[in-house]
Amino acid sequence: MSSEAVNYEKPHAVCVPYPSQGHVHPMLKVAKLLHAKGFHITFVNTEFNNQRLLRSNGPDSVKGLEDFRFETIPDGLPPSNNYGATQDVPSLCDSTAKNCRAPFRDLVARLNSTPGIPPVTCVVSDGVMTFSLDVAGEFQIPGVAFWTASACGMMGYLHYRSLMERGIIPFKDDSYLMDGTLDTQIDWIPGMGHIRLRDLPSFIRTTDAAEIMFNFMGNQAQRCRKATAVMFNTFDDLEKEVLDALTPMLPPIYTIGFLPLQSHQIKDVGLKSIGSSLWKEDMEWLEWLEGKEPASVFYVNFGSITTMTTQNLIEFAWGLADSNHPFLWVIRADLVKGETAVVPPEFVEATGGRGLLLNWVPQEELLQQPAIGGFLTHCGWNSTGESFCGGVPVVCWPFFAEQQTNCRYACTEWGVGMEVDKDVRRTEVEALVREVMKGEKGKEMRENATEWRRRAERATRPGGSSYENLNRLITDVLRPRR
Ligand code: UDX
Repeated sequence: MSSEAVNYEKPHAVCVPYPSQGHVHPMLKVAKLLHAKGFHITFVNTEFNNQRLLRSNGPDSVKGLEDFRFETIPDGLPPSNNYGATQDVPSLCDSTAKNCRAPFRDLVARLNSTPGIPPVTCVVSDGVMTFSLDVAGEFQIPGVAFWTASACGMMGYLHYRSLMERGIIPFKDDSYLMDGTLDTQIDWIPGMGHIRLRDLPSFIRTTDAAEIMFNFMGNQAQRCRKATAVMFNTFDDLEKEVLDALTPMLPPIYTIGFLPLQSHQIKDVGLKSIGSSLWKEDMEWLEWLEGKEPASVFYVNFGSITTMTTQNLIEFAWGLADSNHPFLWVIRADLVKGETAVVPPEFVEATGGRGLLLNWVPQEELLQQPAIGGFLTHCGWNSTGESFCGGVPVVCWPFFAEQQTNCRYACTEWGVGMEVDKDVRRTEVEALVREVMKGEKGKEMRENATEWRRRAERATRPGGSSYENLNRLITDVLRPRR
């Protein structure tokens, strides 16, 4: 297109996800929605993830369209070609916070002086990439923080400071992690009622005040307070109490979730085909699920970051085998810490025909299949949201971050989950799978999950809170004032 034909008045949003799957995925949805609402989009991947996307999804994944373009910045880590594995989270957090601001500023400056592109009018920054909010400030344009995790998780992080001021964290020594301290009830965090220390985002479990994640997450949550607005991938009904309590603590809040249910607004065929999977997707499950009874298959997937021991894997395997239910289990190659994840051959023999093992699947789509009756999850916020969108009850095995908080809410507030002990035992896994699939409690959880899906659908249709909030965010904040 010649630069003469370009509409320089068009709003231009630069979207900056944190460079891991659970962040790139929802940010791409936001970017597509903004494009559908008339924005020019620049989507910023790290150079490393750009390579990963190319390798797993092919060149189309980062080719973009005329008015939906991909750009890259370095993540600041030493070069690596280990494209099959998740990057080390603390190193990546530390590096993005220290190294990305300058290249991002240069990128915005370059975009502003590139013919054929409207000037940048706003930045949509992941809530943990707040250097890009600083850059939005430098360019005097709105900077919106997109907190991709739960509102209850955000509330936990915002209270890291108060927990420190009260002398509760960091713990004095390791014995505090073992002696029942984590069961201490906390009743003073607004909007959270009674929760235990163990339900707060896991990075409080440290004795080291200088620990990277403890500092990083607490600081990033605080820095979101400087944003022009904060956006959450949740909906009002689901987290009402905590959202009400967050309202006076944050800039204007816009709840726009659950994003998978907003996809009906994305019509552009070219955009629909742009995926965000950092692993190559296996599609064998589609045929395998064909003809299966509704709610008859148990699904297991621990997201993109969770790791476990070989013993955990073995216990999960035999628990699944002993439950006697058909199952679909996604095992990332890097699921077992330090080793390639391999299930025992006897397990494969014992469950042959009843179980399907895969490396990576398009989970959002899979959870929409009526045959899926239960989901063993690490409670990542996207997985949690996708389970609500599918009306699927969950068995929770939280790994880290706010997954502990999500698990607590799933089990006690939302009535859709049951937790497996951290120290996995096959007998417990077997019992929980049986309960979710066929038990009385399982039935109740499925009914609750179905009701939450109905409410989430209502929220994301015209007139619904999330649908209208997205429009308000655009008119109130993201579109340039004339
Ligand atoms: C996490 C969580 O978002 C969050 O709890 C935490 O703050 C840090 O990052 P992750 O552990 O990967 O991310 O979990 P999740 O939020 O569930 O995101 C994983 C995404 O990958 C989901 O959208 C899921 O659909 C997708 N996925 C996962 C696939 O598409 N295929 C798979 O096989 C597995």
